[in-house]
Amino acid sequence: MSDDFSAFDTPVDRNGTGSLKWSRYAGRDILPMWVADMDFRSPEPIVAALHRRVDHGIFGYSTAHEGVAAAVCDHLRRVHALEIDPAWIVWLPGMVVGLAQCACLAGEPGDEIMTFTPVYPPFLKVHRDAGRQLITVPLAEENGRHTFDFAAMERALTPRTRLVMLCSPHNPVGRVWTRAELQQLADFCVRHNLLLISDEIHCDLLLEPETAPHTALLKLDGPIRDRTITLMAASKTYNVPGLGLCFAIIPDDTLRRRFILTKNTFVAEISPISFHATQAALSECESWRQTLCCYLRRNRDTIAAFLAKKAPMVKMPHIEATYLAWLDVRSLNLPQPAAHFESHGLALSNGVDFDAPGFVRLNFGCSLTTLNEGLARFGNAVAAAVQ
Ligand SMILES: Cc1ncc(COP(=O)(O)O)c(C=O)c1O
Repeated sequence: MSDDFSAFDTPVDRNGTGSLKWSRYAGRDILPMWVADMDFRSPEPIVAALHRRVDHGIFGYSTAHEGVAAAVCDHLRRVHALEIDPAWIVWLPGMVVGLAQCACLAGEPGDEIMTFTPVYPPFLKVHRDAGRQLITVPLAEENGRHTFDFAAMERALTPRTRLVMLCSPHNPVGRVWTRAELQQLADFCVRHNLLLISDEIHCDLLLEPETAPHTALLKLDGPIRDRTITLMAASKTYNVPGLGLCFAIIPDDTLRRRFILTKNTFVAEISPISFHATQAALSECESWRQTLCCYLRRNRDTIAAFLAKKAPMVKMPHIEATYLAWLDVRSLNLPQPAAHFESHGLALSNGVDFDAPGFVRLNFGCSLTTLNEGLARFGNAVAAAVQ
C-alpha cells in the first residue's frame, strides 16, 4: 500500500467541463461538496483504456466484450473472497436504473418496499414509478453508531410487504454492516418471504478494511441467495460515475429472468466506452484504490479532528466507508441548514432529501487543500449560527 498521495493532492480545475457538481455554482464563490463524485482524476489505466477504445472510432450499440465479466469475477474473488458465476451478471446503465427495476419486482402494484432511513435519496423515490408503496424504518442509533431496528421492522411489516432495499455500506451514515447484522437481516427477509436488494456501490471504499471489512450479501449462509439481487459498480470507487455502468448479480435463474423483463423502453443502452473503463478499473487499478482509501481515511480523520476542536456541537458518526461525512447540525437550530452553509460559501447535500432534516452531507472526495478550505467555511457558518 502506497502513501504517495501526489495523485490526490493535485487539484484539478473542473470548471467548464460540464461537471454537475461544479457547474451549479459556476461564477459564485461557493465550494461544491455535495453530489457524490470525487475531484480526483481517474487512474491512468482507465484513461488509457478509454483512449484505446475511442481510437477505434466506431461507437455502435454495445454489449459487454470478452473480458469484462471475467474482470468482475476476478475482482470479487481477490477483494471480497466471493465466487460468482459470470452468468449471474446483468449489465445496466446505472445503479438507480437497477434500483428502479428491482422496485418492479416487489409483488404487485400497491405492494410495499421497506427501507431504512436516513438513506440515499433515490431509495425514497423508485417505488413511485413502479406503483409500489414505501415503508421507511429509521435506523437505530446508539452513541453515534447506527444499526437495524429489528423490533421496529417487525412492527412496520404488513402482509403486503414484499421487498427490502439495503444500502451496504451505507450512504449516508457510513456504516459497513457486520456479517452478524446482515445475517440477521437476511433471516428476517427469509422468515417474511421478502426479496432483499443490496446496493453495494460503496463496497470498495473501505476506510478501515481490517476492522470493518465489507461482507458481500452473497457470502451469507442459508436460502437468502435465491431471493437477493446485488447491485455493484466501479463508478464511485474509480470516479467514473458519469460513464454510467453498473451490474446486478442475481444467482437465481427465475429471479434473474424476471429482473431482465422489467427493463422497459425508458432504460437506455449502455455506452461502449463504459465497459472498457470498468474492465480497466477492476483489473488494473488496485494500488490506486488502496492509496485512495488511505487518502480518504486521512480526510475523514481531518474532519473528525476539526469538529472536535472547532464545532463540538456538530456530531458525525464514525464513517467506516464512502467519502461522505454525515453531519448532525440540529443543535444549531437552523431552519434550513443546507441554505445556511451555502450562504457561507459551502454547498452540502441537504439532509431533507435523505429523510433527515437537521443534517447535511459533506463530500470529502477532494484534495486535503480543498477539504481544509471547506472546513474553514464550515467553521465560519457554525460560528455565525451560534452567535
Ligand atoms: C448508494 C448509492 N447507490 C447508487 C448511486 C448512484 O448510482 P448511479 O449513478 O449508477 O445511478 C449512488 C450515488 O451516489 C449511491 O450512493
